[in-house]
Amino acid sequence: MTRSGWNGYETRFADEKRVESYARQYDEGSYDDHVWRLERPVLLDVLRRERVRRGRLRVLDFACGTGRILRALEEVADELTGVDISDEMTKRAAEASPQALIRTGCVLTEDLLAGPYEAATVFRFLLNAPEEVRLPVLRKIREHLEPGGLLVLNNHGHSPSLRSIAVRVPKSRPERPNELRHRDVVELLHASGFRVEARRGFSAFPPVLHRNLPAAALRRADAVACRTPLRKMTGGLMVEQLYMARAVG
Ligand SMILES: C[S@@+](CC[C@H](N)C(=O)[O-])C[C@H]1O[C@@H](n2cnc3c(N)ncnc32)[C@H](O)[C@@H]1O
Repeated sequence: MTRSGWNGYETRFADEKRVESYARQYDEGSYDDHVWRLERPVLLDVLRRERVRRGRLRVLDFACGTGRILRALEEVADELTGVDISDEMTKRAAEASPQALIRTGCVLTEDLLAGPYEAATVFRFLLNAPEEVRLPVLRKIREHLEPGGLLVLNNHGHSPSLRSIAVRVPKSRPERPNELRHRDVVELLHASGFRVEARRGFSAFPPVLHRNLPAAALRRADAVACRTPLRKMTGGLMVEQLYMARAVG
């Protein structure tokens, strides 16, 4: 049993090697870096507009990890808070984003969230978090948002996507990646007090194609597929999905 009583996901990034290997996933030129370069301007644009609407923007980045998202948010936020359960991760986050207030611990058992926040971001958490943790965490974030506050949440293993179809081809891959369906994300968001306002997809082509075909051409095609009007047709099949959801009630 871990300190929070959960099933182990919260300790996955407890040691430095795992943290280093996660950070390296975003090395310049990597597949994850490519996806982030598509996603980042959309995130910043959404938050910039929110800041104009609200007059100021205090943002909570939940499960902030190495501070990847916090660093980008420095461009648009007036105040930033990053929270993560791993000491090794928050050490990195503090270096990456010196402006942010960084808290380490479990939001369900410790009083870590000051708030209220106009917006919250949750990247690469929901998919891998144990089911019993997803809803309580989203509800906790909801409690600390201003009325009508904005949640920007990402699902980095959307199904169905071209990747999920490709891995279902017999023998193409012995183990299937973890995946989360759109309707499950929407259900979780509704149950935790959010209404989905918009969704954007990124990365049409699975990583296996990026490894085996000319990456530059695929990246250009990905970038085109993410733009209007094409994204209306292709967005729902992309592996990385970004949800913009409004706190209700
Ligand atoms: C894959 S990393 C994502 C980091 C960052 N959001 C990003 O997108 O680069 C997942 C993060 O969730 C954190 N985490 C796992 N369980 C958590 C929990 N219960 N509360 C807060 N953070 C948690 C891990 O320590 C890790 O830093």
